Amino acid sequence: MEGRVAIVTGASRGIGKGIVICLAEEGAAVLFTDVSAERGRACEEELRARGLEVSFLLADTSSVADSEAMARAALEKYGRIDILCPNAGIFPQTLIEDISEQEWDEVCAVNLKGPFLAAKACLGPMKRRRYGRIVITSSVTGPSVSSPGHGHYAATKSGVLGFMRTAALEWAPYGITINAVEPGNILTEGMKLHRDQDFIDAQQAAVPLGRLGTPEDIGRAVRFLASDEAEYITGQVIVVDGGQTLPEMQSAILPRLP
Ligand SMILES: NC(=O)c1ccc[n+]([C@@H]2O[C@H](COP(=O)([O-])OP(=O)(O)OC[C@H]3O[C@@H](n4cnc5c(N)ncnc54)[C@H](O)[C@@H]3O)[C@@H](O)[C@H]2O)c1
Repeated sequence: MEGRVAIVTGASRGIGKGIVICLAEEGAAVLFTDVSAERGRACEEELRARGLEVSFLLADTSSVADSEAMARAALEKYGRIDILCPNAGIFPQTLIEDISEQEWDEVCAVNLKGPFLAAKACLGPMKRRRYGRIVITSSVTGPSVSSPGHGHYAATKSGVLGFMRTAALEWAPYGITINAVEPGNILTEGMKLHRDQDFIDAQQAAVPLGRLGTPEDIGRAVRFLASDEAEYITGQVIVVDGGQTLPEMQSAILPRLP
């Protein structure tokens, strides 16, 4: 990652912050965004104190102007964009019959339009240098599984994979790869805020590897897909879920090994 310049969206906490840390610890300079100025600045201060080359920009991933400003800021500060990680996401839990049009649009704007806008904003600089690594944070929720309350969320996390596959074909001639990670249940601030303890306990009990994931579990998978080693991989997903989506039957009745 030495000499690489990366952008990570929605990264003042949680998985995004884990991605920033994993990239910056290996030598990348990282510009990260968030809609919370206070958290963003605190995160920037914390990571700089750890000797990491990071800078924060207040930007809403659902805004064209902010996405373009984000790409401009990275170019102005670091002169290039090698890696983009569209990660910002929201996950309200609402039964489909109760989802308002406004809530549906909001989830789509952040989770589905956001990665499109971020990628489009960074495309020009990547094309010019014939190099790019884009790694989207999708989810197992939507592409492989779901649970009640995730109608809009699951739709966006599946939808973004369709976007990714098309972009992989359109941008391969420019040396730009685009892949995704599908996190399982990762214990983040967002998860603690939006899911109750019963949900978290039930998820943990269903993970064959015996624990919920950490932001760094996702950050390391993203780092691989963003690295030179992954140059022949495009349009693909890595599931990072501790084996949670593997069982053929409910985990409660799976035979337990000693
Ligand atoms: N935590 C999990 O179990 C899990 C599982 C699968 C996928 N994901 C995905 O991982 C990503 C991060 O989730 P998390 O658990 O770290 O959430 P989180 O809420 O802890 O962190 C998300 C960050 O994104 C920021 N954000 C929200 N809307 C934004 C916007 N419009 N523009 C820029 N930033 C914005 C928030 O302010 C927050 O700091 C999301 O895309 C989420 O869907 C999470």
